[in-house]
Amino acid sequence: MEVSTEKRQFVEHLQAFRNILGESFVFTDEESLNNYAHDETENLHFLPDIVLKPRTAEELAATMKICNAHKIPVTPRGAGTGLSGGALPHLGGVLVSFERMNSIDIDERNLQVTVEPGVITEVLQNAVKEKGLFYPPDPSSRGSCFIGGNVAENSGGPKAVKYGVVKDYVLNLQVVLPTGEIIWTGANVLKNSTGYNLTQLMVGSEGTLGLVTKIVLKLLPHPTYELLMLVPFNNLEKAGEAVSAIFRAGFTPSALELVEINALKIVSSFVDSTVVPVTDDMEAHLIIEVDGNNMDVLMQEMEAIAELLTQFDCGEIFFADDAQQKAELWKLRRRVAEAVKLDGYTIEEDTVVPRAALPALIRGVKELGKTHHFKVVCYGHAGDGNLHIRIKKEGNIYSLNNPNVIPALRALFELVKKLGGTISGEHGIGLIQKEYMGIMFEDMQLELMRGIKRTFDPNNILNSGKIFDQK
Ligand code: LAC
Ligand code: ZN
Repeated sequence: MEVSTEKRQFVEHLQAFRNILGESFVFTDEESLNNYAHDETENLHFLPDIVLKPRTAEELAATMKICNAHKIPVTPRGAGTGLSGGALPHLGGVLVSFERMNSIDIDERNLQVTVEPGVITEVLQNAVKEKGLFYPPDPSSRGSCFIGGNVAENSGGPKAVKYGVVKDYVLNLQVVLPTGEIIWTGANVLKNSTGYNLTQLMVGSEGTLGLVTKIVLKLLPHPTYELLMLVPFNNLEKAGEAVSAIFRAGFTPSALELVEINALKIVSSFVDSTVVPVTDDMEAHLIIEVDGNNMDVLMQEMEAIAELLTQFDCGEIFFADDAQQKAELWKLRRRVAEAVKLDGYTIEEDTVVPRAALPALIRGVKELGKTHHFKVVCYGHAGDGNLHIRIKKEGNIYSLNNPNVIPALRALFELVKKLGGTISGEHGIGLIQKEYMGIMFEDMQLELMRGIKRTFDPNNILNSGKIFDQK
């Protein structure tokens, strides 16, 4: 996309930023600005004026004091893998990249880790795994996303169905406030009933309330074994029905993912894989994983789940036998979003409904596709009722205000609300979903959120215009 080359603003503060961070960590050249102008959301592109790369909370706090005094817009950014535009510097100004803040400090005695926001999630997972420990939240982008971005969005991923999402692991946060103070939000403890829960308020606040500079996470012992199977279904809705039946029968898989057949075809060709044979009578697959420390128990569980699924018109089940087959299956699943986007399904939604409403959501989405003339693929974390819906509308490039797209999304979100769900399960509201917040919330609730924002950020400089507009 063409980027504007209009004159950079706020250059009068460059020397002050350089004095704090050092010459080498303040960027204004066109190439650097371009590198931070986009994320994984659609094709949106906004140039910041200045990119800052602090190393410490103190450096960042000093730069925030300048931004606050001069009302310079500030956009925090992790690795730029977000899908709702949370890290897009749509107002220009300063972009803060956390890539230099990347230390990991494991506390084995307490099963905790203190990590800086610029650590890649998978790097963190591998570091704790070396000590036999487990940090479960595993977004599809875990090989490139930053843990700081995961905290900002309260990310999930396949393991959330058994282990919960990021919020379930965050014990304490060090935060630089928009006004330049540094605070800790809580304590490094497993229980805490001491005052308002600022830690959990910060998690999922999409970088609008503060800049997280240290994260204390709870860890678990790493399970010893995982078993994985892939189950084809002749009917998409039946696959959806099978999902809640698995839980009702008393099983808690460590992943329960759904991939519609067209998504599987697109991703198989994208990664050049033939691991899953695709036949015309299949409409969807469930990927089911169980984990634990007793192989016999896991085998029995897999067999019992397989037996249960025969009631839902499933085809021949494929059991991933070795590490390579498991890795191949997970690679297919994790790369669906990227593959279908390149195939023209540019609009990504992140709907979530109570698990038993999943078949109704799937049915409704297909009907909406017919009424509003869009093609759709569904995939995602079926065990959580969290369905990613990718939409392709022929002849329509996505844009925030595309009049052909908005009514379709509005209808989709109204359906989700009617089913008792909500419009984002793990990607956040960011820039692109904010105009639909009115479907989920009354003015009263939005006004409470605006009041919280004002308390933390009186000058409205930090990631302003994300989640909602400040009045
Ligand atoms: C996934 C990302 C897009 O589930 O959330 O693949
Ligand atoms: Zn997802």
